[in-house]
Amino acid sequence: MNTETKDQDSFVIKLSGVNFSYNSYQALNNIDLNVRHGAYLGVVGPNGSGKTTLAYIMAGILRPTTGTVETFGNNVGLVLTNPENQIVSLVVEDDIAFGPENLGLDAQQILDRVERSLKITGCPELRKSLVTILSGGQIAQVAFAGQLAMDAEIIILDEGTSLMDSKAKSTLLEFLRFLNTEQSKTIIHISHKLDDLYAADEVVFLLDGEIKAKATGALELLRYFKDTVGAYVRPGSFLLYRSFLEEMGLGDMDERQATHGLVQGMAWRQVSGKVQRRKS
Ligand SMILES: Nc1ncnc2c1ncn2[C@@H]1O[C@H](COP(=O)(O)OP(=O)(O)O)[C@@H](O)[C@H]1O
Ligand SMILES: [Mg+2]
Repeated sequence: MNTETKDQDSFVIKLSGVNFSYNSYQALNNIDLNVRHGAYLGVVGPNGSGKTTLAYIMAGILRPTTGTVETFGNNVGLVLTNPENQIVSLVVEDDIAFGPENLGLDAQQILDRVERSLKITGCPELRKSLVTILSGGQIAQVAFAGQLAMDAEIIILDEGTSLMDSKAKSTLLEFLRFLNTEQSKTIIHISHKLDDLYAADEVVFLLDGEIKAKATGALELLRYFKDTVGAYVRPGSFLLYRSFLEEMGLGDMDERQATHGLVQGMAWRQVSGKVQRRKS
C-alpha cells in the first residue's frame, strides 16, 4: 500500500456516483460507497440486485458507465461465486503459483508465497494435492490462498459459500474474520444471505442496483428489514437466534448460557400460557 492511502484517511476503495449498464440494462444505479482500510464490509441483496456487478467494479474488472472508482493500494483479490472456476492448474501448488509467476517473481519468492499463503489458509498439507479431489471448502481455501499469494490487501468474496456444507462454511467465516483481524486484510463479503455477514462491521443492502440501506452490522440491518423491506432478505436461523437473544436481553452471554436462558424462558412462557388459558 502506498503512502497516498494514509493521506486518504485509510480508504481503500471509493465509489462515487457509479452507474453500470449491460447494453441498455442498468445494473448499478448511483452507487456511493467508501471502503475503509481494515473494514469487514458485507453486501447483501437478492438475486439480480447487482452484487456481482458491484464486485467486478470494485475489483476493477468492469469500469463504470459513469461515475468514479478509486482504489488505493491497487491490490484487490476476488474470490468468485464458484471458486472452482478460478482454478487454473491441476495441482494445488501450481495453481497458487500461477498469479505470482505472472508478477514476474523469481522461483524462491514464488515458493515462499505458495507456502506462506497455504499456511495462512490453514491447508499446507494440500500443496501437492490434485485439485480434482478437493471438497468445496478446500477449493475455496485454495482460491483464497491464490489471492493471498498475489499479496491482495483487499479480498472480495462473492457468494463463495454457496457450494459449501455448513461446517465448511463456518470454517470459512472464521477464516475471513481471522484474515480481517489477524492479517489486517480488508474484507468485502457479498452474499444473498444475511446470516453469512454476521461478522461484518458494516453491511450495505443492495436492491435493483441501488444501495437502499447501510448498517453497522447484520443485526442492525435485520432491525431495518423488520420495519421496512423484510420480504427481500430473510435472515437465516443463526441471525434470528442472535436477534431473539438480543430482544430477550441475553445478547451478551455466551451461546451455551444464552440457550439455557432461552429454554428456561420458553418453558416459563408455556407454563404461564397454560395458566392464562385456564383463566379464560
Ligand atoms: N453480462 C450481462 N449482460 C446483461 N445483463 C446482465 C449481465 N450480467 C448480469 N446482468 C443483469 O444485471 C443484473 C445484476 O446482475 P448481478 O450483478 O449478477 O446480480 P447479483 O449478483 O446480485 O445476482 C441482473 O438483472 C442480471 O440479469
Ligand atoms: Mg451474483
